[in-house]
Amino acid sequence: MRSKIVAGNWKMNLTFDEADELVNDMLDRLDEEHEMKCEVIVCPPFPYLEMLTDMEYEEQKFNVGAQNCSAYDKGAYTGEVSAKMLKSLDVDYCIIGHSERRKYFGETNEILAEKVNRVIENNMSPIYCVGEVLEEREAGRHFEVVKEQLEKGLFHLDGDAIYDAIIAYEPVWAIGTGKTATPEQAQEMHAYIRQLVKEHYDQAAADDIRILYGGSCNAKNATELFSQPDVDGGLIGSASLKAEDFVSICKQASKLMKD
Ligand code: 13P
Repeated sequence: MRSKIVAGNWKMNLTFDEADELVNDMLDRLDEEHEMKCEVIVCPPFPYLEMLTDMEYEEQKFNVGAQNCSAYDKGAYTGEVSAKMLKSLDVDYCIIGHSERRKYFGETNEILAEKVNRVIENNMSPIYCVGEVLEEREAGRHFEVVKEQLEKGLFHLDGDAIYDAIIAYEPVWAIGTGKTATPEQAQEMHAYIRQLVKEHYDQAAADDIRILYGGSCNAKNATELFSQPDVDGGLIGSASLKAEDFVSICKQASKLMKD
């Protein structure tokens, strides 16, 4: 059975002190949970990565991911952060292609394919995000949009590398809106994505790959979303900024994993 993953995307929130407080609160609460079986990933802003990777090694309770990386390897690219730099801080995951990067920073599927390559070359796992905007869903184009995002940005990976990837389905209309996809809508898209993995790779890759749901996922709706057969956990935005809510979501994911 695939293990569940709960990943927190802090986005551009929190000062250093607030981040320190949040992670300590989270660790205290995780300490109380002896049955935490799911994998927990925390994705803070770049300046806080080292604080978290240090704690990761001390506490062994969570893994650390970045929210983005450069499409370039190294060199004169002022303001960019390379995948190699992230790896040198012991970061193991990197979110690629979040809809906010696609929308506000003009990241195309072609740029994202390069970012995925840099992440894989540096032995990290991309958390590759896909999802349609409201107009696309209303026009019945959501499957087509997600298919193109996957085919252009992720499915160029060869058979072995796809095993390192995680996919996050985040319908844009559900992000930060409080309007969560129904469990049926999430399941339908996740099953479709898994079918695409099977078509481009094979049954083993489709059975193995973790597909997370993101978009107004919170402590109240996590169980019903994560109990869908093709939903392997969540990519959590605002609820990851509250230790109580985030740990509750992790606990719900763990409960759904059989011994
Ligand atoms: P919210 O959980 O705040 O809707 O954000 C989801 C998200 O974008 C995670 O990457």
